[in-house]
Formats: sequence, structure tokens, C-alpha cells
Amino acid sequence: MAKKLKVGFVGIGGIAQGCHVPGWQKLEDVEMVAAADVNKKVLAAGGELAGIPTNRLYTDYRKMLAEVDMDIVDVCTPNCVHKDPTIAAFKKGRHVIVEKPITTSVANAKQMIAAGKQARKLLMVAQSMRFGDDALAMKRWVDEGLVGDIYWGRASYLRPRGVPAWGSFISKELSAGGPAYDLAVHILDLCMWLMGHPEPVSVSANIYLEISNKPSLMKHNPRNFTVPDELAVGFIRFANGASLSLETSWAINSTQPNNGIFLAGTKGGIQNNPPTLVREEVGMLTDTTVQVNPDRGIASHHEEIRQFVEAIRKGKPSPVPGEQALLTQRILDGIYKSAKLGKEVKV
Ligand SMILES: NC(=O)c1ccc[n+]([C@@H]2O[C@H](COP(=O)([O-])OP(=O)(O)OC[C@H]3O[C@@H](n4cnc5c(N)ncnc54)[C@H](O)[C@@H]3O)[C@@H](O)[C@H]2O)c1
Repeated sequence: MAKKLKVGFVGIGGIAQGCHVPGWQKLEDVEMVAAADVNKKVLAAGGELAGIPTNRLYTDYRKMLAEVDMDIVDVCTPNCVHKDPTIAAFKKGRHVIVEKPITTSVANAKQMIAAGKQARKLLMVAQSMRFGDDALAMKRWVDEGLVGDIYWGRASYLRPRGVPAWGSFISKELSAGGPAYDLAVHILDLCMWLMGHPEPVSVSANIYLEISNKPSLMKHNPRNFTVPDELAVGFIRFANGASLSLETSWAINSTQPNNGIFLAGTKGGIQNNPPTLVREEVGMLTDTTVQVNPDRGIASHHEEIRQFVEAIRKGKPSPVPGEQALLTQRILDGIYKSAKLGKEVKV
């Protein structure tokens, strides 16, 4: 067997323990050798789960990078702590997988991409939704030409009562934004990937914060809610003439959660949950639905990690390169700028 690839974590909290550690554990040619986390309790629990010796657990990621030899750095910190560890890891000549969103501004994303290029190492953004069975079914329809040119889409990720009560999500200092950063980034990435990454031109958006900072049924402490949005809605125009409607919430007075994308193409329409292709066949409008693995949420994280390792081993491009995440980051920046100015903005 080839020499094992060594992985070190920066941030070993919720997503690292729940999805990344089991993902790395599934791969025989990988070993988790070190972790850094500013929270000592989380560090101890994460280190134990990953089987990392206690003398390889650090509260300062810079010290870990200086002392431990590794091939891959897995950045699972809050959004505002993605850029610096990523750049520090590249300076040490490591490959980097960083959780979504890539970061909190276009300027940061450009620095991260440039650092990876300079180090000649891979940067992968953990856009896990791309690796689920439903996404792969939709991608296959697109690649087989059954959808044609995609000219409009609608991306919804609405939780009626789903403000995160755990982790860093509702802290402006740590996460920068609300559901736009947490949820919309997933469905934006999915749509952009299926649409072939068209160049975004402009965004018109509004953000709202009406109910999350009041006591209610929700489990979080409303006083800790410091991000600017609980609902973001927007309309994005692309250079190829395509457009996308976007809506995402953690809290809204509506009956149903809704997590779904729909893309309209010249030959067919596709949607997820469950993955369905709608098109004209033998003179009728028909739909085809694919049966998917119900456990695909977790499986998609494992698959993203497997594909990253495969890309490193085989010298292939990053499965989710920073340049693609930069397009999404331009849209996210545009959402907040447009909402602030109250008008459509160029991105
Ligand atoms: N792909 C997905 O479906 C998904 C799901 C959840 C979270 N995420 C992303 O993962 C990231 C982390 O989210 P989480 O839910 O695991 O949060 P979390 O708060 O549970 O874990 C983050 C950890 O980072 C640590 N940390 C903070 N600053 C640090 C620093 N300077 N150095 C070292 N460690 C530091 C914290 O102590 C914490 O343990 C976020 O960017 C989030 O958007 C992605």
C-alpha cells in the first residue's frame, strides 16, 4: 500500500467529529495525526474520537503546523477562521480541505486561492451537497445532455424554526452571516455546479431579521443572535443570460421546511428531493424520479473526503476548487451589499 497520507485538523468540533473524522477513518491509506482547537474540552473529545495521541493535540494551530509533519490540513473552524489557517497550512506546503463557506469575503477567498497556487497544493471547499446521490443523479442528466441549456433556477432552503442553538452559527464575530452563509451557500454551489459555473453579473437581495432575536419556540438564546439575517432572498443574473431566484431562512412563519432546487433547461427541468427529471417524451410531459440512499447526508461528506484523497493521490484537480467557491462568495458578498444599499449591485 502507498504511504499513508497524514491529516491534521484545525477545529475539531461539530462537523469535524460528526462527519470528517468518520470520513477519514473509512480510508485505509489515511491517518489522523494531530488536531488543534481553542476549546480544550472539544479538543480532547475530538482527539480521542480520531485516535490522535494527546501529545499531538494543540490549542494553537500554528504550533501544530510548526511541529507536526502532515500532508493534509482539514480546516473545520467557524467561517471567520477559515482564511488564516488555510494560508498558514499552504505556507507549510500542505493540501487543504476547508469547510463551507470558503470564507466571508471575496478578498479573503482570493488570498486563499493565491496561497494554494503559490504552494502548488490543492484547495478543496467542502461543498458536501455535490457528493450526495441526488446531486450525482442531476449531474448525470445534465452531462448526458437531457436538460439542455439551463436558463432559470430556483433555490430554496427554508427552515421555519431552525436557528442553530449550537456551535458558532449565530455569532457575527465567528460566522459573519446567518442562513445565507450557512444554508444558501450549499444550494448556490449545487445550482452553480449543475449550471456549469456561469459568471455572476449582478445580485438584488434583501435580508431580514424579524423573529430570531425575540424569545420564542426556538432553542437558541436570542441575546446571542448577532448575525444580520434570519432570512435572505435574492435574484442573481449571469453573463450567459441565465438567472436564479434564491431564498433561505432559519426562521420564518411558514408551515413547511423546504430544501430544494429546481433548474429549468431547454430540454428538461430537474429538481432534487427526490431527484426528478421532467421532459417531453413521446409527445407527453413526463417525469422520472430516481431512488436514492436515504443516508446520503452523511455519505456525501465521506465521499467528498474520498474524492479529495483520490485527487491528491492521482494528481487530479481539486473536486471543489477555490475558484468555484469564489463565484459563490461573490454572490454572497452581493447579497449583503445589495440588501444594505437597497438596490441591485454588480458582483
Ligand atoms: N457541510 C456541512 O454540512 C456543514 C455542517 C455544519 C458546519 N459546517 C461548517 O463547518 C464549520 C465549523 O462548524 P461546526 O458546526 O463544526 O462548529 P463548531 O463550533 O462545532 O466547531 C468549530 C470548532 O472550531 C474551534 N475553533 C474556533 N476558533 C479556532 C481557532 N482559532 N483555532 C482552532 N480552533 C478553533 C472551536 O473551538 C470549535 O470547536 C463552519 O464553517 C460551518 O459552516 C458545515
